[in-house]
Amino acid sequence: SFEVALARSALTLHVPAGKSILDVLQENGIETPSSCEQGACGTCLATVIEGEPDHQDVYLSDSEKASNSKILTCVSRSKSKRLVLDI
Ligand code: FES
Repeated sequence: SFEVALARSALTLHVPAGKSILDVLQENGIETPSSCEQGACGTCLATVIEGEPDHQDVYLSDSEKASNSKILTCVSRSKSKRLVLDI
């Protein structure tokens, strides 16, 4: 599990095993667009301010993944204990 801090919403949320970042955002009433929920369409893209995503999607290019600046919140997780997103 890991924490997601939402910079613009001034909220920190806990993401347990078995739930996606997107699930946790929606449970907490954060409006986040989504569509495929399989890491393929790019609709749920968020900007990473801090932390190292564990990319599980097939949407971002290898160089985008390596830059750790974007994350697909429906499938990807975190290698660091905390991710800060521009949400
Ligand atoms: Fe399609 Fe996340 S909803 S990539």
